[in-house]
Amino acid sequence: MSRLVIISNRLPITINRSAGELHYHPSAGGLATGLNSLDEDYNKLWIGWPGQDIADEWEKESIRNDLAPRKLAPVFLTEREIDLYYEGFSNKTIWPHFHYFTEYTAYNDDMWSAYQEVNYKFFQETEKHLRDGDMVWVHDYQLMLLPKLIRERFPNISIGFFLHIPFPSYEVFRILPWRKEILDGILGADQIGFHTFGYMRHFLSAAYRITGYEHKFGRLHIDEREVNVDVFPMGINYDKYADPDANADTDQSSGEIRKLHASRKIILSVDRLDYTKGIPHRVRAFKRFIRNNPEYIGKVNLIMIVVPSRANVDQYQSLKTEVDVLVSQVNSEYGTFDWMPIHYYYRSLNFAALTTLYREADIALITPLRDGMNLVAKEYVAAKEDSKRGVLILSEMAGAVYELNDGAITVNPQSHQEIEEALLEALEMSGEEQQLRLELMQVKLKRYDVKHWAATFIKEQKKLKDKNRMTNTTHLGGDALDEVLKKYQEAEERLLFIDYDGTLMNFHEDPQAVNPDEGTLAILTGLADDKRNNVVINSGRDRGTLEKWLGHLDVEMAAEHGVWMKENGEWHLNPNVVDGWMPKVMELLENLVARTPGSFIETKDYSLAWHYRSIDRDLGQKRVREFRDMLTYLIQNQDLQVLEGNKVVEIKNAGVNKGKATSHWVGKKNWGFVLGIGDDATDEDIFAALPESGVSIKVGADRTAAKYNLSGVGEVRKMFKTLLGKK
Ligand code: UDP
Ligand code: G6P
Repeated sequence: MSRLVIISNRLPITINRSAGELHYHPSAGGLATGLNSLDEDYNKLWIGWPGQDIADEWEKESIRNDLAPRKLAPVFLTEREIDLYYEGFSNKTIWPHFHYFTEYTAYNDDMWSAYQEVNYKFFQETEKHLRDGDMVWVHDYQLMLLPKLIRERFPNISIGFFLHIPFPSYEVFRILPWRKEILDGILGADQIGFHTFGYMRHFLSAAYRITGYEHKFGRLHIDEREVNVDVFPMGINYDKYADPDANADTDQSSGEIRKLHASRKIILSVDRLDYTKGIPHRVRAFKRFIRNNPEYIGKVNLIMIVVPSRANVDQYQSLKTEVDVLVSQVNSEYGTFDWMPIHYYYRSLNFAALTTLYREADIALITPLRDGMNLVAKEYVAAKEDSKRGVLILSEMAGAVYELNDGAITVNPQSHQEIEEALLEALEMSGEEQQLRLELMQVKLKRYDVKHWAATFIKEQKKLKDKNRMTNTTHLGGDALDEVLKKYQEAEERLLFIDYDGTLMNFHEDPQAVNPDEGTLAILTGLADDKRNNVVINSGRDRGTLEKWLGHLDVEMAAEHGVWMKENGEWHLNPNVVDGWMPKVMELLENLVARTPGSFIETKDYSLAWHYRSIDRDLGQKRVREFRDMLTYLIQNQDLQVLEGNKVVEIKNAGVNKGKATSHWVGKKNWGFVLGIGDDATDEDIFAALPESGVSIKVGADRTAAKYNLSGVGEVRKMFKTLLGKK
């Protein structure tokens, strides 16, 4: 069984020091509780912080020994690291920012440095443990740089990354000065998972706009890897919460809860004390509910379990004060001698007490302002497996709402009025309707439980690894390059087809700005100087430009995808070419440019191209679709072809393409060595027209029929230098 190496900031076990002794407790929070429910099915190792500042080496060693049998490997953080990385960059910068609390975002370079250092510290611990065949699964916002660090050291290992909190919209994300490094860090993974489609969409949009990587159906090509970005909503350990014996070992508080419930309706809320959870809003909404519905005085109780969290972060401290004051205001204003409206507990509960509460509560009032998922909502529903009585009121801003909206009453957490109405609806809901709604949710939660979540994530990650391995294209380096070099050296007559843009020269927003630099000229001159070589520049560019830039070299050329061909120093037109269609299409293109600022038309002798490299991708795609529709109508019955290249659409004569030009040269004689190299879809025609023994080379990571690939212009130049015998 291959091993799953889970890495998260927090281990599922937290150490507390009291009276000089160390105690181990289960960690609270969705990530730890959820992932920890993945039991024996996985051979796991879990790397993370045990939640205390441990300085003493002897104590560290004893903790390591305690944790090792449980397959837990601790990463110890110093006091400074806890301050700057955990409380700092993680919880004063990323946490508020990603939850849209941008007014709380701290911008602090020391915190950023500590974040980088601690991510590296996690990498060092991981490096010690990793073995061949392991699968790595990195979790959450505290470790966003880790996938890249692991990738650099272990290029072939399969890495997954899961973000348990929202990924904000691009407009918010781009405010962060470290946005590029964060994205690059995450993109080191093979698979990137989010709880909802919205978070995934935001991530892909940020990845495109900031790093330039485009996706197709959530797949990105980065170097030679295919990266899958997808939605995997996390489930809970359903059976554990649904089990009727789950709270059998009742403690005193469980008994008290039952007694309370005998006389009153219970409204329950459970959250960490966090400003994202909307606790003050909830208290205010409850106050409004009592004020407007006095008939419920003495008949309902709001039980609020508030779990201490990140107590050293300022906002959490002030939130504590705010909630304390609000609760006591409501209780003092509306309470009677035998009724206290809000029962407020600032502590964490054990599993038995928590499930008793879930079971006894008539209503769960879960109203975060933003929440990546919210497992409490799911646990509440599961705990109603037996009774089928209970109503879930759930915020529209929780990730869980996308799975639970058919059974829950959904509310905007900012609207006190909506919360009041939801409470009334819930309190008055018939038993049948409660059952119906619960069952709708339970069916889903049972099927898509936490095991299903992890299994699906891991299965998809494995598929990806196999697929990446299966591709027939080999990177042209090492042995593969030696082999090609050998064939090249042995051949007397060689034919080399070389694309220009994206192959010899990098793209530029202005196509006229990529005249050949010294490096390119040196390569082409070097190749042309060898009398055994016949070099053909096979490009989509117009012949005027090619002639201006390369006309002085001893190379042949095919321009405009083969409309023009230069042989023995003479340009001649491909006889299949016609141009009567051009004015009509030109009119259409001018209209397109007028509506799409930033795009432009390139006029060639026998073709027209519309470039949209500098405009927004989504707008570009929309325009291409419109354009295609109009064009199909306009060019009916004409022998024209529409080619979609990299941010360019070209209209040209059918029967004229780079492949036809390639065949023209290939057919001239029996060459000893034929090579074709290019970066975009139009170059696939070159590859297809090469003889069986031909060396086809794709530049970039897109799918290709080529035998070999190279990552970019830099590698292309290196490859040609090798052929030329230069270092
Ligand atoms: N939880 C707990 N003890 C408590 C209260 C909550 O163990 O006293 C657990 C709860 O069962 C849930 C997790 O903490 O699994 C909270 O996860 P959630 O996704 O709701 O919120 P998060 O804390 O991750 O923001
Ligand atoms: C959320 C985060 C987790 C975090 C948990 C508890 O669920 O997504 O990564 O562990 O809150 O927060 P803490 O700061 O105590 O680890």
